[in-house]
Amino acid sequence: MSITRRLFAICIGLALLSLVVVGLEIRTTAASASNRVVPLFVLPDTSLKPRNREPAARRSWHRSIPQSPQTEKTIGEVRKNIQVLKEFPDSQLIPMMNLMSASLGVKCDFCHVAKDGHLEPALDDKPEKKQAREMITMTLSINKTSFNGRNEVSCFTCHRGRNQPVAVVALPLPEPAPRSGRGPGAAGPTAPAPTVDDILNKYVAALGGQAAIDKLKTRVMKGTYAAANGMTATFQVDQSAPDKFHITFITPQATMERGFNGSAGWEKNPRGVTDMAGNQLADMKHSFALFGDIKLKEQFTRMNVRKDKLDGRDVYLIVAATADGQRERLFFDAETGLLLRRATAVQTPVGVVPQETSYEDYRDIDGVKIPFTIRVSTTDPGSTATRKYSEIKINVPVDDASFNKPAAAPRAVGQPKP
Ligand code: HEC
Ligand code: HEC
Repeated sequence: MSITRRLFAICIGLALLSLVVVGLEIRTTAASASNRVVPLFVLPDTSLKPRNREPAARRSWHRSIPQSPQTEKTIGEVRKNIQVLKEFPDSQLIPMMNLMSASLGVKCDFCHVAKDGHLEPALDDKPEKKQAREMITMTLSINKTSFNGRNEVSCFTCHRGRNQPVAVVALPLPEPAPRSGRGPGAAGPTAPAPTVDDILNKYVAALGGQAAIDKLKTRVMKGTYAAANGMTATFQVDQSAPDKFHITFITPQATMERGFNGSAGWEKNPRGVTDMAGNQLADMKHSFALFGDIKLKEQFTRMNVRKDKLDGRDVYLIVAATADGQRERLFFDAETGLLLRRATAVQTPVGVVPQETSYEDYRDIDGVKIPFTIRVSTTDPGSTATRKYSEIKINVPVDDASFNKPAAAPRAVGQPKP
């Protein structure tokens, strides 16, 4: 399971759905990428208003993550007017566009022409787009010639959330801050460092213990979804061990569903019913498998642990790698043992796309602790979203037939599952 794939999935696979929902059409083949859906359903940011938000600086913990084998089409093969990003997989295009927008603190229409609310990204009318193209070439070349091909320098390295980077040191210089926190000795008397197994065992115990987890057969969750771009929805997830799921996502405009019955995946939206396979299905299984955030050890081949801080709390940070070399950071509360955050960082030619999923408000449901608030932050404002559950039930009967692909009869607007 490639994190790259999953992360690149964020932007557009559901764009078809969301375009239906929000009515803004990007007149391109932008809907071709597969979709990672850590956010439940992905709704792109459609406001063309300029945005002046300072993205938080992030520590650079990632290093060259190997690219997954490129079986998919390249950007050059899929898009109309590509000059410098031709050779990269098409699933990376929109994540890179989001990353460039976030790095400069602008919206798509800073570089692209917008006509009647439609983006025309293939046109080269704006000088900003031409300059961005030169900047991409420059960034690729800096990394190639000065950093041995590692993606060390990104748009954000210079731009820091502004279209015009600051080149001159600001005066007065800040007072040197006292060294805080992370060095050896800073954490107090040296207790024996826990091992990865200690942390994971404590997590299982904190969740309710192995026996309660082994008894977990089904889960039904209802909640609300609110994205940073203002999009809201209600949703329901039905899951059955080990990996069946059925998600119903209801916005004021439409109902969308996705499911997997153990062998076949599908998607239903107002345009009809389609199969879901390959990367997209793998991504959904990762996000919605019943044990996705519970059985962690199985997902990684290498794990290391160290002490860290997260929002002022003492945490244990496990840096983990999958068999195909993708990295993930997992933050566990040092006191409660619960998982607080998972973070991935994925390389693209113009920089690293960070994504964080935070787990809050753990509640006990029949002996198993489950987070009732899940926050996802990405560089895509449409995928930066909070899921809040209003109701979670475990081990209740779930109709197995609901995981099967529904009949293909088209319908205007779907009904929520009873
Ligand atoms: C900082 C400038 C900049 C911003 C902001 C930007 N883009 Fe782009 N975009 C480009 C450049 C430059 C290219 C062409 C790259 C090349 O020639 O290799 C491009 C190409 C594209 C293409 C391919 C067009 C084609 O068919 O040839 C799409 C689609 C696209 N952008 C969508 C978006 C979206 C959606 C956003 C907002 C999330 C966005 N872009 C934000 C600079 C930008
Ligand atoms: C090494 C530092 C550096 C990097 C890396 C960098 N830029 Fe820039 N960029 C600048 C500077 C400096 C300017 C201002 C140049 C000027 O005023 O003529 C600028 C200007 C721009 C402008 C024009 C802004 C405007 O207001 O018209 C765009 C668009 C842009 N950069 C896009 C990008 C993109 C996209 C990336 C990543 C692919 C990137 N830059 C990476 C330094 C950088």
